[in-house]
Amino acid sequence: MATVLITGANRGLGLEFCKQYAAEGWHVIACCRDPKAATDLMVLAAHHSRMAVFPLDMTDFLAIERLSAELATLDVDVLINNAGVYGDTSEHGFGDLDYASWSKTLTINVQAPVKMTEMFLPQLKRGGKKLVVAISSLMGSMADNGSGGSIVYRSSKAALNAAMKSIALEVKAQGIGVLIFHPGWVKTDMGGSNAPLAAAVSIKGMRQIIDEFTLAQSGHFIKYDGTPMPW
Ligand SMILES: NC(=O)c1ccc[n+]([C@@H]2O[C@H](COP(=O)([O-])OP(=O)(O)OC[C@H]3O[C@@H](n4cnc5c(N)ncnc54)[C@H](OP(=O)(O)O)[C@@H]3O)[C@@H](O)[C@H]2O)c1
Repeated sequence: MATVLITGANRGLGLEFCKQYAAEGWHVIACCRDPKAATDLMVLAAHHSRMAVFPLDMTDFLAIERLSAELATLDVDVLINNAGVYGDTSEHGFGDLDYASWSKTLTINVQAPVKMTEMFLPQLKRGGKKLVVAISSLMGSMADNGSGGSIVYRSSKAALNAAMKSIALEVKAQGIGVLIFHPGWVKTDMGGSNAPLAAAVSIKGMRQIIDEFTLAQSGHFIKYDGTPMPW
């Protein structure tokens, strides 16, 4: 059975990815900042022998290197770069932006997924599926931005899209693919309670696209249901 590595696995979309892949019998490598506090994830892992939880803070690039070394002999089919933060606050809009928060958001939302992809490339090359997934957002789209605001989050997801598009071109010759997803507006801590979409529906859609992925789709920016997203 295939192996998936998921970041930000303790809640929201990451936890739902873990639930669904574990239920399908996949080997799930679930990474989260603080496993001791990740009650739902630990309960899930206790019921699935093919699931392992690893501590990983996405701002700690040495920790990413150490995890890759620790898992050096693992074959990874799918790497899901899911962990993310919003970064914007209502107190710090344009005119009084919080630059420290912006830098941290760029580290977590852009550099960390790139670092994960660099460090797990050997494991991905040996995997059957050879797929890197980036959980981005339609808010990273320039073409779709009709309302403005969310400067921190929008710029981070636009940069993530740009980086992942380049990586897709870079690694294609090695048979490795990259998919950039807009998961929809989903009910999670980040999406909020007004979001129309259940995490289970978003993840089911993305899993189906991942299952059916071919290299011809690499570098595409798509919604959880396969709809192409505007850059
Ligand atoms: N929900 C939506 O409507 C929506 C829409 C578009 C895109 N997205 C994207 O989907 C992804 C998942 O979002 P979500 O809705 O599930 O949000 P969420 O419920 O807020 O979960 C965010 C996850 O990221 C983790 N994370 C944050 N900072 C981290 C760090 N420094 N190191 C490790 N993990 C960290 C969190 O871990 P902690 O518990 O330790 O903080 C948590 O597991 C994000 O990339 C988000 O931008 C979501």
